[in-house]
Amino acid sequence: MIGRLNHVAIAVPDLEAAAATYRQVLGANVLPPQAEPDHGVTVVFIELPNTKIELLEPLGEASPIKAFLEKNPSGGIHHVCYEVDDILAARDHLKSTGARVLGTGEPKIGAHGKPVLFLHPKDFNGTLVELEQA
Ligand code: CO
Repeated sequence: MIGRLNHVAIAVPDLEAAAATYRQVLGANVLPPQAEPDHGVTVVFIELPNTKIELLEPLGEASPIKAFLEKNPSGGIHHVCYEVDDILAARDHLKSTGARVLGTGEPKIGAHGKPVLFLHPKDFNGTLVELEQA
């Protein structure tokens, strides 16, 4: 069911500093920051030849990554995103296996303008999983 690894997301306390590290130290192609108020984050995408890295900084007081950064003050891997062909079929299959879909279970529009869902980390070896309809 899952296809390509779309991105690995890293929560960071300072987006500008993290973007500069990827640009200057790692020599990566770093795109401009995008505010995603619906998701409570500001995002910087880094394009790699085979996938992307998504740097996330909290946006607003109710940001879903705020607690994560309190536990991991220097930042850390927050989630991985796999592509699926049909997000509703993927959701229904996951639910039928007992896996927990976060939120209302209805896809939201993610940072790439495509529908996304998140799956409970306790069902996936302690890793928050995002699914994106490719
Ligand atoms: Co993501």
